[in-house]
Amino acid sequence: MSDKYKVIVVGMGKRGMHHARAFHDNGRFELAGVCDVDPARLDAAAGFRTAKSRNALELALAVKPDVFCFCTLPHIRTEMIRTAIKAGARLIAFEKPVALTSREGMEIRKLLNESGTKAVVSHQHRYGKHYRRVKEIVASGALGHIHTIYATASGWMFHMMSHLIDYMRWYNGNTEAQWVMAQATGDGKLSDSHPSPDYIGGFIQFENGVRGIIECGAGAPDVPEVDYWWRKCRILVQGSDGFAEVLTGGGWRAVTMTGAFAGPGCMSYDLDMPPYVQDIARWLDDDRNVHPCNFESAYAGFEIMMAFCRSAVEGGQVLLPLAQAADELAMLRAYLAGRTAQLATAAHLKEYVRVEEKMVGVRS
Ligand SMILES: NC(=O)c1ccc[n+]([C@@H]2O[C@H](COP(=O)([O-])OP(=O)(O)OC[C@H]3O[C@@H](n4cnc5c(N)ncnc54)[C@H](O)[C@@H]3O)[C@@H](O)[C@H]2O)c1
Repeated sequence: MSDKYKVIVVGMGKRGMHHARAFHDNGRFELAGVCDVDPARLDAAAGFRTAKSRNALELALAVKPDVFCFCTLPHIRTEMIRTAIKAGARLIAFEKPVALTSREGMEIRKLLNESGTKAVVSHQHRYGKHYRRVKEIVASGALGHIHTIYATASGWMFHMMSHLIDYMRWYNGNTEAQWVMAQATGDGKLSDSHPSPDYIGGFIQFENGVRGIIECGAGAPDVPEVDYWWRKCRILVQGSDGFAEVLTGGGWRAVTMTGAFAGPGCMSYDLDMPPYVQDIARWLDDDRNVHPCNFESAYAGFEIMMAFCRSAVEGGQVLLPLAQAADELAMLRAYLAGRTAQLATAAHLKEYVRVEEKMVGVRS
């Protein structure tokens, strides 16, 4: 009998292939099956000599995996969680975002808690050496008393904000948030597979007094140090004695009382996935080795994102943790209809429609 953890990967698109490769290449795991509803995607995964299926439940019940990994688009999270639990998986590894509404996020959390299933959410950028360097600098005390963390991304909310909040929370010692206040505009990306406002921004009050500031999407500033558009993300930690920042596609830098420092680093699936997957084995080996990307941590970040949406629609400060479930997506669809976002930079033209173009489109 194999002493490896059996894994199946469902959804063999871009991220499914990354996960399958990382599990396959790690000696602690046996890639026991892959699944996609699209036969072309299964063909593309032919290189993995493992069971192939177009039905996740059938595959999971046949394989009885230790780890049920799914990398589907965000609209079928609950269905996949139920499938994994039904098959008796010990750990579920899935992609951000946690869910599209707090109603679904709360349901997923309930299912995981009731079944006692471990879960991790793929906020794997934190394994980048530049991300870790900033964490080390913050933890060393070289920035003095931390008071502000600012995070920005060009990509839209359900793609990028999940990441930004996760790393902001990490740099802030996973301190709980007390409230948020936010604004949002632009209905262009509501029809995307990651349906989001074109632009959302706001503030977070953390329990330790640190101010979080986040902006995501069309109105977010360019990060000119980074060429690749999706990696135009900046997370800046400011303290009484200095600052440190990471750029997802452009290394890190810091200014402290002892000088100015900088170093390289770029988000890389090839580099970030192996340690992410290794930490899954460590957590399965020993309950004390809780994965840094554990569900509870991701859920705390997810609640902040949902609170941003509620504040943007309803106004005012939204208290955390959220007491009631809601359908934030429906709220956003109603609120954002007909609203347009101004672009912060021409760099965003490739992904967002400029206001004037949209008006021309409406007229023609
Ligand atoms: N962590 C990261 O750095 C990162 C980066 C990119 C994307 N993502 C996330 O990964 C997820 C997937 O993104 P992607 O770019 O790989 O998408 P993708 O469209 O390339 O792949 C999704 C796959 O799921 C398959 N699928 C859909 N329904 C299915 C079902 N019921 N059973 C089996 N397969 C099914 C589709 O056919 C498709 O092949 C998204 O949630 C996205 O936000 C994360």
